Amino acid sequence: MADELAGTVALVTGASSGIGEATALALSAHGATVAIAARRKDRLDALATTIRDGGGQTLVLEADITCQPEAERTVETTASELGRLDILVNNAGMMLLGPIENAPLHEWDQMVDINVRGLLYCAHAAVPHLLRAAEDGPRQVSDMVNVSSVAGRAPRRGSGVYNLTKHGVGAFSESLRQELTTRHVRISLVEPGAVATELVSHNRPEIQEQSRERFRNMERMQPTDIADAIRYIVTRPRHMAINEILIRPTEQEL
Ligand SMILES: NC(=O)c1ccc[n+]([C@@H]2O[C@H](COP(=O)([O-])OP(=O)(O)OC[C@H]3O[C@@H](n4cnc5c(N)ncnc54)[C@H](OP(=O)(O)O)[C@@H]3O)[C@@H](O)[C@H]2O)c1
Repeated sequence: MADELAGTVALVTGASSGIGEATALALSAHGATVAIAARRKDRLDALATTIRDGGGQTLVLEADITCQPEAERTVETTASELGRLDILVNNAGMMLLGPIENAPLHEWDQMVDINVRGLLYCAHAAVPHLLRAAEDGPRQVSDMVNVSSVAGRAPRRGSGVYNLTKHGVGAFSESLRQELTTRHVRISLVEPGAVATELVSHNRPEIQEQSRERFRNMERMQPTDIADAIRYIVTRPRHMAINEILIRPTEQEL
């Protein structure tokens, strides 16, 4: 059904590329009005044009959500401009890999800032709106989908701080789920394996080469594969909640 999300408002962070962009398109195609947030406004404007050309409604929010006031403004502007917030997809993130020994500390800071702090700031601002949506919304249920990773389940050498941030997302999500689930706010965790996006491109050249080598003969997933899983999560009936989905490319062992 193309209008399962009619009347709802979704906010997708990290919507300027990859999984976030595909998720915004998928939720819009199913009838949600979608607020799209990230730092690269040109990319958000292009996505907004695509959404509007497809008959959807959207709101562009240029924001660096590692900055708490900007994260809060992103959530509050969505609710005030679009009237409500039914779905938050906490997707924005970075993966900067490499050994812990002699790692550039600014890379650790960047990952903690966006994968942990940015997600927490958005979650904190969104909870009151999600509670309200669960009470008086068209579906009587609301959703927060937190995008973790297979790295949030299985630590690997060379991935220590990314593992730390994504394990943290998993722990936070389960704690928040227990706090809110009886009030019909569903908290879901999505843990993708390798997806073909820009994620690796922010790494040092030698790390990018190692990643290319690791996945050279593997068919990676596409952003639309993960968007489809998120669409599935948020379109379940009120009485069921998908707590967690781990999704790997078929050929990915670890
Ligand atoms: N690709 C994979 O294999 C994979 C696997 C498992 C999990 N994941 C997770 O999936 C999520 C999306 O990643 P992706 O693969 O789609 O990579 P991507 O294409 O690089 O997307 C990352 C998004 O995060 C946004 N972002 C980064 N820093 C931000 C900030 N300070 N404020 C606001 N937005 C920010 C980026 O937008 P701007 O740069 O425009 O701000 C971009 O839209 C991440 O949480 C990642 O850890 C990805």
